[in-house]
Amino acid sequence: MTLSPPEAEHIGTGDDRRTGTEEDVVGLYGRHIGSGRAVMGRVMGGMAEVRSEGLWIHADDGRRFLDFGGYGVFILGHRHPAVVEAVHRQLDIHPLASRVLLEPVAARAARALAAHTPPGIDYVHFVNSGAEATEAALKLARAHGRTSVITTRRGFHGKTLGALSVTANATYQTPFQPLLPDVAQVAYDDPADLEQALAARRDRACVVLEPVQGEGGVRIPRPGYLQQVAHLCRAYGALLVVDEIQTGMGRLGTWWGVDAEGVTPDILLAGKGLSGGVVPVAAMAATAEAYAPFGRDPYLHTSTFGASPLACAAALAAVRAMEDEDVVARAAELGPRILAGVRAVCAPYEGGLVREVRGRGLLIGIEFAREQAVGELLLEMIARGVLVNHSLNSGHVLRLTPPARVDDTALEVFLTTFAEALKSTAARMAG
Ligand SMILES: Cc1ncc(COP(=O)(O)O)c(C=O)c1O
Repeated sequence: MTLSPPEAEHIGTGDDRRTGTEEDVVGLYGRHIGSGRAVMGRVMGGMAEVRSEGLWIHADDGRRFLDFGGYGVFILGHRHPAVVEAVHRQLDIHPLASRVLLEPVAARAARALAAHTPPGIDYVHFVNSGAEATEAALKLARAHGRTSVITTRRGFHGKTLGALSVTANATYQTPFQPLLPDVAQVAYDDPADLEQALAARRDRACVVLEPVQGEGGVRIPRPGYLQQVAHLCRAYGALLVVDEIQTGMGRLGTWWGVDAEGVTPDILLAGKGLSGGVVPVAAMAATAEAYAPFGRDPYLHTSTFGASPLACAAALAAVRAMEDEDVVARAAELGPRILAGVRAVCAPYEGGLVREVRGRGLLIGIEFAREQAVGELLLEMIARGVLVNHSLNSGHVLRLTPPARVDDTALEVFLTTFAEALKSTAARMAG
């Protein structure tokens, strides 16, 4: 992958011309960002992404990729026009705030989001990333005396030091030990294990979990699990933090994963799709009681760029776009169709290369018998123009997080490509 200086200037303006002396982006990565990422970039074909729109990401060599993967941000697709317009407007009038006066866009975005959070979750603290939302929740829990944290195996909640303490993956945790003290890991979808941990920490625990584990490999708990968790938290005086950073904003075919079971946690985390696919923004939302320490003292937990007008304009426009385009209903209708298509493609390989296909809404996981298959398939898909992803806490699982805007043509392209790539991967693995 190489970019000429003139093209480097054109990046982001939609101009893909390549002229003159070429500049090696892989080389720049190697010299200034990291050799590991440079090697990965080379393995994936050495292309750089320079432009995006709707379902598509365009690379510097003129190729385009159907985006069914990535980190699960683009439920609205790339550069949703209404979000882009709102962000442009905000950029033109007041992108960052003094933090001295009040910020109207933050207030409106909080109201818009709270209109869709579970009943009783009315307060919103905007931050810049999912991990920051987890950090805010852990601090809020501590402000309530909940100094012990219970998290679930394979759970993923971010990689800043506090968030990493509850992200149950030794690969990421070990180099940074010691992390937060008094963190217990329990089995996901196992109320008895949770109860045991809670009983040992009566009135001093907070429980952090996802309604469906995303990075954990699209693990879907049995029906009633979240209700049981909420019940146990009440019984043992624990604060319940539900991390909907990946599952929320319609991803599961409901606004939030907890909606499926009518559960209101004390704290709910949002991110990824909240950006509208345009500006990084995440949020910690809470009930009045849980939020009280932050509500009382606005300086207890602050950050210069948190709740910036630009980010809040994106969040507000994203929520409006979700409403206007009925994205939740679209995800609920589209998800099962994609899942059925994926299952049909995988059927000949089940019991062999493919262990299981599972999904809810637009979060779909394909579990393979061998971890190597995930990497091979990912590369086969990229070579054929489709982006998918692996799961950070479950290497055997290929993860799909397609936008709700996928139409019949795109679905056909995806399924045909997937079938070809899987066939080729299976042949290679057998050989
Ligand atoms: C459930 C969940 N929580 C937290 C995070 C961390 O978010 P971020 O990468 O924006 O810090 C992620 C990211 O994948 C996630 O899936």
